[in-house]
Amino acid sequence: MTSTHPHPAATAYGRLLDHSNRHNPYPHFAELAKEPVHQLDEHNWLVTRHADITALLRDPRLSAQNPAPTDPDAPLGSDGKPFRGPLLMLDPPHHDTLRQRTMDQFVPRILGMRPRIEAMVADLLDRHVGTGSGEIDVVAALAYPLPVGVICALLGVPPEEEPVFHSFAGRLTRALDPVETLTEQEITQLAVTQRDWRAYLMPMIEQRRAQPGTDLISGLLTKGDPATRMNTVELAVTLGLLLIAGHETTVNLVANGTLALLRNPDVLDRLRADPDLAAAVVEEVLRYDPPVQMNGRHTTADIVVAGQVVPAGDHVQLLLAAGNRDPRRFAHPDRFWPERPGNAHLAFGGGVHYCLGAALARMEGQAALTAIASRLSNPRLVVDPPPYRPNMLLRGPEEVRVGYDAVTT
Ligand code: HEM
Repeated sequence: MTSTHPHPAATAYGRLLDHSNRHNPYPHFAELAKEPVHQLDEHNWLVTRHADITALLRDPRLSAQNPAPTDPDAPLGSDGKPFRGPLLMLDPPHHDTLRQRTMDQFVPRILGMRPRIEAMVADLLDRHVGTGSGEIDVVAALAYPLPVGVICALLGVPPEEEPVFHSFAGRLTRALDPVETLTEQEITQLAVTQRDWRAYLMPMIEQRRAQPGTDLISGLLTKGDPATRMNTVELAVTLGLLLIAGHETTVNLVANGTLALLRNPDVLDRLRADPDLAAAVVEEVLRYDPPVQMNGRHTTADIVVAGQVVPAGDHVQLLLAAGNRDPRRFAHPDRFWPERPGNAHLAFGGGVHYCLGAALARMEGQAALTAIASRLSNPRLVVDPPPYRPNMLLRGPEEVRVGYDAVTT
């Protein structure tokens, strides 16, 4: 059955968006997941189940592109058409061209990064060694600086520039939220930030164009078929996308993972005894408490979801976090259980937009959570639940204060 009139799901969805429920939205996801599809209002729908979300992520009749007409004053993309935005918000075929070019340069550079990421994690925790018993905010001390350090290393940006990247990451993140959730003032502010970002990157791009190095920017500028090379605007926007898509998400993975481990001491003990469990722990954090809670799309044709017609031109919100706890797909969905068989979670999306940085995020999450388990002796949560940032789509705690007896070397 599908709830349609008079849109009762809007109340349940309202509870989900309510900041006072941010620390535990899962009972509200479960409430919504009693039905596979909800109509929120005339043109907005929610989809809650794993099988439907999986299918819709791969359905070419759903568009990730903003349906508004393109700005006629926009600069041209490398396809000769007015530029529409980052590849995350583009449909094929231009999406595929930009994604392939990015992957060609990104993937080989991250493959060998594990030792460097482990060294960064070690360095961030070393700062707390020898202080005896104390307290660490895992978000500020580890989860925030790690992804910025990693992206700067990939781009060949010197460590002293990391605070600038950090600040841009925070401000640009709003660009990932659906445009209809932004106020006029926020849209104006975002446009200013995006202009500042391009102005900040331009000298860096020109320097690499003149003297290419081994970094990602140089690779994107100079390698591969010149016919499909990104132009400067696309390059700056893609670099911004890598920064924002890879930042807040990874922060949430490390923060949510720390919470899950400290609330499940048996798993923490097992990870400490067997670091090989880290991969399964990270997959289970991604399922149990996903950093990206939902994904939005527009329908370009009438589609049928679980027997319900969703008309062309409507907006569909795919509730990844609800699909990740769908009892039809996952046994004991509310249990944090790293050894669960067949953990096909939806945390990285699916289809043509499947997360391009998934392998990197996994490495960062595994390195950070292994270090927390092995180096903090007798760790415990100081405030539980912790305070949460206002964001719903990229949901995560503002801080995770952990008390310890010592930070070991
Ligand atoms: C735990 C960390 C992460 C999570 C949970 C995550 C999640 C996601 C999800 C759900 C999508 C699909 C969005 C959609 O379909 O609309 C996505 C796309 C993307 N992610 Fe991630 N991400 C993470 C880390 C990263 C990292 C580290 C990077 C790169 C440095 C990255 C880069 C991207 C890019 C470029 C896309 C767009 C791909 C496309 O549109 O083809 N992500 N991510």
